[in-house]
Amino acid sequence: MRSVASKDSDIVFQSYGRCCNNEIFFIDFYDRFMSSSPAIFERFRETDMKQQRHLLRNGIMQLVLYSRGMSDAKLRSLGKSHDRHGYNIRPEWYELWIEALIATLREHDPVFSPEVETAWRRAIAPGVELIRGAY
Ligand code: HEM
Repeated sequence: MRSVASKDSDIVFQSYGRCCNNEIFFIDFYDRFMSSSPAIFERFRETDMKQQRHLLRNGIMQLVLYSRGMSDAKLRSLGKSHDRHGYNIRPEWYELWIEALIATLREHDPVFSPEVETAWRRAIAPGVELIRGAY
């Protein structure tokens, strides 16, 4: 019997494959995420967004790989860069991050469905908690 985590990550890898090769996906994600709060917009004021979109492409992959049992080393280092001594990313902002991601997937994945949404939410939750929990 294959585990729930492994079935979720298959669905998620396929969904991500339909979205992540188009830079518009990441442009739309950051437009949405940055509009969700002025404080979040402010955090990216001096950021090179082209570079940031590229880094996020890999960051999302790390979240999914972690749910599939990969080492937590990369996420621990993201936890450290985002913590109160680093970018000072407040724990409540991660909800906005997740909702911006799901809304962007809904817009860009042509076969998005409630099943795909649930798989995404389950697959990224442990990795997001690890980063948020490092605060
Ligand atoms: C779990 C969700 C998140 C993931 C996977 C993620 C991923 C990343 C990655 C890969 C980087 C670049 C590497 C680094 O600097 O350490 C980064 C930088 C950054 N992230 Fe996140 N992030 C997440 C949540 C957030 C949230 C909620 C905010 C809120 C504003 C945020 C704000 C930033 C900022 C300000 C930077 C640095 C930008 C710069 O270099 O100017 N991140 N993030």
